[in-house]
Amino acid sequence: MRFILFTGKGGVGKTTIAAASALHISNSGLKTLLISTDPAHSLSDALSLKLNPEPQLVKENLWCMEFDVYYSMKKYWSNMRELMYSVFKFQGVKSVVADELSVLPGMEEGAAFLWLEKFYSEKFYDVVIIDSAPTGETLTLLSLPQAINSWLLKAFPGQKMALNTLGKVVRKTTGIPLDKGYQELQLIFSKLATIQNLFLDHSKTSIRVVCNPEKMVIQESKRAISYLQLYGYNVDALIVNRVLPKTQNGFFRNYEKKQKQYLNEIDQDFNPLPIFKLNHQGEEVFGIAKLEKMASGLYKKERPENVFFNEKILQIDSTKNGYQIKMKIPHLNTTTLKLDKFGDELIINLDNKRRNFFLPKFAHFHTIASFTYTAPWLNIQLVKS
Ligand SMILES: Nc1ncnc2c1ncn2[C@@H]1O[C@H](COP(=O)(O)OP(=O)(O)OP(=O)(O)O)[C@@H](O)[C@H]1O
Ligand SMILES: [Mg+2]
Repeated sequence: MRFILFTGKGGVGKTTIAAASALHISNSGLKTLLISTDPAHSLSDALSLKLNPEPQLVKENLWCMEFDVYYSMKKYWSNMRELMYSVFKFQGVKSVVADELSVLPGMEEGAAFLWLEKFYSEKFYDVVIIDSAPTGETLTLLSLPQAINSWLLKAFPGQKMALNTLGKVVRKTTGIPLDKGYQELQLIFSKLATIQNLFLDHSKTSIRVVCNPEKMVIQESKRAISYLQLYGYNVDALIVNRVLPKTQNGFFRNYEKKQKQYLNEIDQDFNPLPIFKLNHQGEEVFGIAKLEKMASGLYKKERPENVFFNEKILQIDSTKNGYQIKMKIPHLNTTTLKLDKFGDELIINLDNKRRNFFLPKFAHFHTIASFTYTAPWLNIQLVKS
């Protein structure tokens, strides 16, 4: 079973491209599920269909669903919510607030993960396409294990405990009989771990970053890709959406000029990641027919269910007094190569041209001690400043 997750800055076209990709895949005969985890649901708008919080067959081989955290928790995970609720109430939190708190940050993502686990274990679909929320939230989704820790810390402040002792501790300190909820919690944790591992398996899960040829969007995409790589996920393509085709009347002349420059930068800076480009369609893209046409223009002869790329282009190892960063950057001219770092931003100066990359946040506290370039790897030694 293949999982393909689309992410990117707000409004770049994630939902549209996820839907187009799912249609394209299902048309080839593979059983495809398209799930939107973004609470601001627009999948039904994109497809011009009414969708539910359960998978629904919308076309031969294509099922769609709009994930709904409240619906999901009520239907499948109410014991877990009860557990959180009773713990908060025990801590003296007022009922109304306890109700509010029992949907904790990360729980929404957690509930979405549980659906994915269900699909994975049922083995019905060949491909699951995930239309996710903008980048920041997707990173939360993918760093879910940390989010779970934060639930436990919120529920039991000051307690350090392993999950398998949690039930006993809670019963002892609160008197709450939570055997049922506790067992469910354990099951949930093991399911979450399954999905976490599945997402880290490069042969099964691909993450595709959608962007537009615009400065801010490009920057955010670079950051997201660095982070996703750092967490061990496989970003297998960049999709550049809303490329302006040449217009006749020249009204967008300046826009086109700028886009051309950004497109060149994208080709250079994201290399060796595969890049797919998609023109602005000249209108909003709603409904199955338009989306299908769009997908053919996007993937051309490629099959979207394939893994397009599986290389680690960023490697980070800790050293005695800092970090060693290895970045795969083909074609750097070493004679004119100079590096600078501002905060987490790495600037590569080459023949008076600048290219920028983003390092993980810890780079704020480090300086560049030395670097070497042995094509295609740029090796940087960072030391604590
Ligand atoms: N290539 C394109 N040409 C024309 N319109 C497009 C194209 N791609 C997307 N759109 C339109 O842009 C709008 C936003 O697209 P979409 O909802 O897919 O973005 P999103 O990244 O999912 O947004 P959000 O971050 O809010 O979830 C929609 O109206 C969609 O029809
Ligand atoms: Mg969307």
